[in-house]
Amino acid sequence: MSRRRFYFPLLCLCALPVAARHPVRERNAMVVAQEPHATDIGVAVLKSGGNAVDAAVAVAFALAVTHPAAGNLGGGGFLLVRTAKGETAFFDFRERAPGKATRDMYLDAAGKLTRDSLVGWRAAGVPGTVHGLETAHKRFGGKPWAGLVEPAIQLARGFPVSYALAESLKNSAKLLSRFPESNRIFLRNGHPYEKDETLAQPELARTLERIAQHGAREFYEGETARKLAQAMQAGGGLITLEDLKDYRTVVRKPLTGSYHGYDVISAPPPSSGGVGLLQMMGMLEDSGYQKHGAGSAAAIHYVAEVMRRSYADRSEHLADPDFFKVPLSGLLSKQYLARQRAGIQPDRASTSDEVRPGKPSPEESTETTHFSIVDQQGNAAALTYTINGGYGNGVTVPGLGFLLNNEMDDFAAKPGEPNLFSLVQGEANAIQPNKRPLSSMTPTILLKDGKLFLVLGAPGGSRIITGVLQVILNVTDFGMNAQEAIDAARFHHQWLPDKLSLERGFSPDTIALLKARGHAVDTISGVALVEAIMAEKGWLAGGTDRRGHGKAEGF
Ligand code: DON
Repeated sequence: MSRRRFYFPLLCLCALPVAARHPVRERNAMVVAQEPHATDIGVAVLKSGGNAVDAAVAVAFALAVTHPAAGNLGGGGFLLVRTAKGETAFFDFRERAPGKATRDMYLDAAGKLTRDSLVGWRAAGVPGTVHGLETAHKRFGGKPWAGLVEPAIQLARGFPVSYALAESLKNSAKLLSRFPESNRIFLRNGHPYEKDETLAQPELARTLERIAQHGAREFYEGETARKLAQAMQAGGGLITLEDLKDYRTVVRKPLTGSYHGYDVISAPPPSSGGVGLLQMMGMLEDSGYQKHGAGSAAAIHYVAEVMRRSYADRSEHLADPDFFKVPLSGLLSKQYLARQRAGIQPDRASTSDEVRPGKPSPEESTETTHFSIVDQQGNAAALTYTINGGYGNGVTVPGLGFLLNNEMDDFAAKPGEPNLFSLVQGEANAIQPNKRPLSSMTPTILLKDGKLFLVLGAPGGSRIITGVLQVILNVTDFGMNAQEAIDAARFHHQWLPDKLSLERGFSPDTIALLKARGHAVDTISGVALVEAIMAEKGWLAGGTDRRGHGKAEGF
């Protein structure tokens, strides 16, 4: 419990009162990101003739400077690309467990979980971001690499702190002040930044300059790698020079399916996002749940029951596919999902005791941030990346200026015990050297009649998948525009703990009806932060989440 209470404020999912807003509508191109400088840089790249992947690289490097809670060089993530010609690719640059990682590395002598998977040097997995961005750029980019890193270098030399960043840094002072370099750079040794003061990060600027000049090799084999490995050793972490040198992005085939006539393209394992999304959609399809209306107790109940079942499967059947045989076709088969749906009662909540992970057929053959971009040609990029908790493991690498992740906590550090996001996970996701921890990040693209329709994704830990699902349902089943779909109040169920969590914004009558069905209801500050672009009637409509401080802009 205390693990969770300490960290959740760092995730910045604060709900604000709902005010009706329209999406930003433009004809040609659109960027929606969680921090305005980053959005502006993406738009500038597109205006200068760069494509969606060029813009994604520039936005990702910019966020590593201006949104240090989640934007990163020291973490990892996923990038989903769909070109205007219909080619798709999923860049998996998720962190990997260091070669010296062991199954029980976060247990003390009594077998109890320590906090080492969350705080400090030992919590870090081998970063993938720089490798992933370069891999995507080599495949799809058009503009020279160095020019895409340049705007981030400028920002690292100094940029005005926003109200949101000042508050976020203050709220994370407890974590950041534990590590001298983080305390010095981000908290000015106890004199927190106020809005409009300049945050200069000269060490980060120099790291970015080297990356601009020499590419990802510099990060994984050059001066940056050497400094990182030395600091790791001094700090008691596990990442070595070999781990860095061996790091590889995996280009995977995106997971695809359909829902109510839309084609869905989403994240394959080691993300649980695409499987979760398609499982939930598979159970909802043909259920008729939508006839009850958006926000009705009957519809919320039904969707929550679907969530419960999918997250139960997540706990047992999903992990890094390079280490564990994920029964993908079983989990997504129509028959299996129909069987799962048959257990849902319209007027009574199941208990998570009675809903166990299902038995799909075995496989026959075998504080995160998200941005969405569509360019003038109709190429789309959806990128979610993270250092896991807000400001990761709290450690800024001396001399390099970037924070490290605490992604090792996404493993089942002790199978059966909840992690930072209260997710209970099993043996499949136990720690092994070089394995990628199971993720919930869900960059997703929808097509309508074969044409680009929706590009979206979100941060929010375990709530990412349910957040993305609800925005899609609001658009496809309830006819909302991109902004309405994002702004509508959301809810979340993840099997365990057995409770239905609601954002503020549901009526007392609705809540009473849900309780009457047997749901244990609680109120939470937010379910994910969704950033979406919808293509409709010749317009691109950008929606940015009212729960955050992002910006949609296009031309
Ligand atoms: O990969 C995952 O599922 C998590 N590390 C994501 C963390 C996250 O979204 C935190 N942000 N709010």
